[in-house]
Amino acid sequence: MALKSAVELGVIDVIHKHGKPMTLSELVSSLKLHPSKVSVFYRFLRLLTHNGFFAKTTVLKAKEDEEVEEETTYALTPPSMLLINGESPCFTTLFNVILHPSAMDMWHSSKKWFGEEKELGLYESATGETFFDFLNKDSETYILSMFQGFMAADSQMMKFALKDCNHVFEGLESLVDVAGGTGVVSKLILEAFPNIKCTVLDQPQVVANLSGTQNLNFVCGDMFKFIPPADAVLLKWVLHDWNDELCLKILKNCKEAISGKGKKGKIIIIDISIDETSEDRELTELQLHFDLVMMTLHNGKERNKKEWIKLIYDAGFTNYNITPICGFKSLIEVYP
Ligand SMILES: C[S@@+](CC[C@H](N)C(=O)[O-])C[C@H]1O[C@@H](n2cnc3c(N)ncnc32)[C@H](O)[C@@H]1O
Repeated sequence: MALKSAVELGVIDVIHKHGKPMTLSELVSSLKLHPSKVSVFYRFLRLLTHNGFFAKTTVLKAKEDEEVEEETTYALTPPSMLLINGESPCFTTLFNVILHPSAMDMWHSSKKWFGEEKELGLYESATGETFFDFLNKDSETYILSMFQGFMAADSQMMKFALKDCNHVFEGLESLVDVAGGTGVVSKLILEAFPNIKCTVLDQPQVVANLSGTQNLNFVCGDMFKFIPPADAVLLKWVLHDWNDELCLKILKNCKEAISGKGKKGKIIIIDISIDETSEDRELTELQLHFDLVMMTLHNGKERNKKEWIKLIYDAGFTNYNITPICGFKSLIEVYP
């Protein structure tokens, strides 16, 4: 919440535009805060500096009487640099989605949810509609654009991971990016492999107004009904939105889509594979937090390796390869 406030106030953008670290009084004046709020603003900054979103340095400043005094300045850090508006990637839309009032309010219904037999996410139990239904309402185009902005930022981060994954896409002539949002990952793949024919399949609300290029095609569709044929299917951050039963439907449609390629077709899944045995406790904690978000917003789940293997075999595939990428995610190649 402190970080959301700092983003909304424009603290990060102001320091970025200033081009060098800023003092508390420079920040207060640039942000036009009320003078009575200086001390509470300082305490927000103190917490966010402790959390690593700002870095504090002390500079010496000459006073009028030739004395020098120490002054504290605040600089951006790598995590806050991911929250600069207009830069890529920019994760500020995350706050509009995960901290949307309806997503906050649902937590007041968790006791009721635990008493219910129905297999619904907390969001649906609390509001009577799924989170995707909420996003897709005509009245919520703003929040849908915020959601797609968050997905696009996450996908832009993939450019760092995909550099090491060229072997995964080599030799492919066509690829369908299923539930591929605004096509950011497909565009990254096309930068490295301009000859692959990429199709981004998503809901009409997301892709109907997007125009493609020679090798990038946007298609409105429902992945539970039909996935166009291709050499490979990409599912990035898709299966974690759904329970096992619905994932099996998606995976079976994917299997059908690559059937023309025989044993050479493949499914490329980018998602979390929870590793509770990892020595990196913070990384596992992040994965478990994502599981909580998926479970409550969507009735989805983050899976561990055993759960992935079961899902893959239950969907009729015979082989797989799981490689960690981007720290907390994995790239899972699945073969017929
Ligand atoms: C978590 S987002 C992932 C987007 C994209 N793959 C990415 O990583 O940036 C899930 C996507 O699934 C899409 N979606 C939901 N239900 C769908 C359906 N039945 N058919 C096709 N796409 C669907 C949503 O519109 C959304 O773009």
